[in-house]
Amino acid sequence: MADSVKNKLTKLREEIRQHNYSYYVLDEPSIPDVEYDKLMRALQKLEAAHPSLITKDSPTQRVGAQPLDVFLSASHQVPMLSLGNVFHEDELEAFEIRIKDRLKRDINIDYTAEPKLDGLAVSLIYEDGLLVRGATRGDGMTGEDITENIRTIKSIPLRLREHQDMPKKLEVRGEVFMPKKGFEKLNAQARRAGEKTFVNPRNAAAGSLRQLDPHNTARRPLDIYFYSATDIDQSTPIVTQYESLGFLRELGLKVCPEIELVPGFRGCLNFYRRILDVRDSLDYEIDGVVYKVNNLALQNELGFISRAPRWAVAHKFPAQEVVTKVLQIEFQVGRTGALTPVAKLEPVFVGGVTVSNATLHNMDEMHRKDVREGDEVIIRRAGDVIPEVVKTVLKPGVKRNKSVQAPKKCPECKSDVVQIEGEAVIRCSGGLYCAAQRKGAIKHFASRAAMDIEGLGDKLADQLVEAELISSVNDLYHLDKGKVLALERMGAKSTDNLLAAIEESKKTTFSRFIYALGIREVGEATAASLADYFQDQNSLMSANTEKLMEVADVGPVVAQNITAFFKQAHNQEVINGLISIGVAWEKKVESKNQNKPLTGHTYVLTGSLESLNRVDAATRLKALGAKVTSSVSKKTTAVVAGANPGSKLTKADALGVQILTESDLLALLRDELD
Ligand code: IVH
Repeated sequence: MADSVKNKLTKLREEIRQHNYSYYVLDEPSIPDVEYDKLMRALQKLEAAHPSLITKDSPTQRVGAQPLDVFLSASHQVPMLSLGNVFHEDELEAFEIRIKDRLKRDINIDYTAEPKLDGLAVSLIYEDGLLVRGATRGDGMTGEDITENIRTIKSIPLRLREHQDMPKKLEVRGEVFMPKKGFEKLNAQARRAGEKTFVNPRNAAAGSLRQLDPHNTARRPLDIYFYSATDIDQSTPIVTQYESLGFLRELGLKVCPEIELVPGFRGCLNFYRRILDVRDSLDYEIDGVVYKVNNLALQNELGFISRAPRWAVAHKFPAQEVVTKVLQIEFQVGRTGALTPVAKLEPVFVGGVTVSNATLHNMDEMHRKDVREGDEVIIRRAGDVIPEVVKTVLKPGVKRNKSVQAPKKCPECKSDVVQIEGEAVIRCSGGLYCAAQRKGAIKHFASRAAMDIEGLGDKLADQLVEAELISSVNDLYHLDKGKVLALERMGAKSTDNLLAAIEESKKTTFSRFIYALGIREVGEATAASLADYFQDQNSLMSANTEKLMEVADVGPVVAQNITAFFKQAHNQEVINGLISIGVAWEKKVESKNQNKPLTGHTYVLTGSLESLNRVDAATRLKALGAKVTSSVSKKTTAVVAGANPGSKLTKADALGVQILTESDLLALLRDELD
């Protein structure tokens, strides 16, 4: 009996590892998320029933129970070195000449060319395939033991994949980083919560790895690419850097897919140009590329000079942070009327482009950073993100201008500017009377994730509004061909294409349609949930806030935004107009909600859950037919209380509503699935 459970556990863990490998290393997901979640739940359930059989390398055991008091120090048997830098092509050629001089022969040299990741170097040790230690670089000789935090990074295997050349001990090094998208999301969350934002993804990654409580690290979107295998104590048949990276991949360790094997310094330069070109489209920050002599025997021959290898060099990109002067602070009006303070700058070249504007986000941020007209400031351009002001550079004795105050009137339409209490944002109250808001609404409506009207970009939207050809999105479907043709830069072909794309956009999905309306705080995901929940626009438009809050990621604020939006006669007209002109989507097939295990039950979620977030929990409950609402009443079946629950728990208690813990919830989800 025990043996068969053991076998089952081994098989489940192996299966999950295999899927992790496909997902993280090969970048080819092998099963849908829900199937993966099912496997994880099956494993959790089996382990819960047989706690003595839980192993440290089980995929369920990523987050340790106890926060640490301090980090222990971790020494590096092979020191973690740094790299020399070059900035120009001739310096790179000189690097290769030095190598050949040193080798005393004129041979062709191949290099592995790798992006230089802008994160944190870590060293991981695997013994018999098991992750036993993770450490920071520290001073190169001694770092900090961050094993517990490293274990929470999902793309790091706790156990390596079976391999015929599995070393008994393997030390691998790589760079932990925070993907750009994850960073933006984290900062947006912090901004909403009025908390401090991170300066850049690298700081965010560093801060996340330095958490004493691994639960905190587990919540941060961290990732890793490995770039070297050191200290392999078993002779593996590997003679080049490029092969060693292949070996790491075979062991299940993630290696950057951009890495190439290139011939000579000219090959390196081609790589540099290619990577500089794609830099902005990568989801991680890089500050240059690294070239390493490919042949390990040659590396050995070349050796080290002070703290850097002679066989490798970093080719750095031009700086991404520069100092310039704020000429003026202006306010730009967005689609929802939000006024964003923008610093107009003395133009400066940063990260490959000339920047003359940088966002200050909102009034609170502007005041927090205390940016004033005339100040010298540090500007950062991170990839394709809008340039932002990092901070002012204060010079002692220099007299500064007064702080810029929020305008009382909209700079575009002169309507009153309002601020809702507790919100950092100030808004123009002009609505669609304001040309800036009209332009914004049309750009959003036409954007790819919304109605996806190809060819209707920012410039054309501005032109259409300025030429008064459209004042609301409906007008797009009644455009006069002759008038479009008369616009600057519009030829016969582009006009035809535009009108065809507009016509084409009428065939859409309910979710795109909802998103396209531009309701405040209704992003793509919320629009998809709403489309999933409501049958058609009429049931959505007539839903009250209570009903709306039954939708997975709709809270009270979003629900109010939605009802307020549909209450406006103008918006009703637009929607009806769009439908009558032929905007349509396929009706969804009626789901047989009636027969599901939790049909008729209503749950309320409060506090933070550990093993899954609230949206996931709600989605799963709803998949079983349950309703998930945000307020507790006598009709509530149960309240699920996570850590730090709010007043809902008190209310549940007072009403005598059943209270479930997170593990009760997991058990419920498991049982109902079985
Ligand atoms: S090799 C002796 N490869 O750059 C070789 N380093 O300046 C040293 N880094 O501490 C490391 N991407 O944090 C190497 N593809 C890459 C890298 C890389 C980023 C970082 C690493 C290291 C620093 C050296």
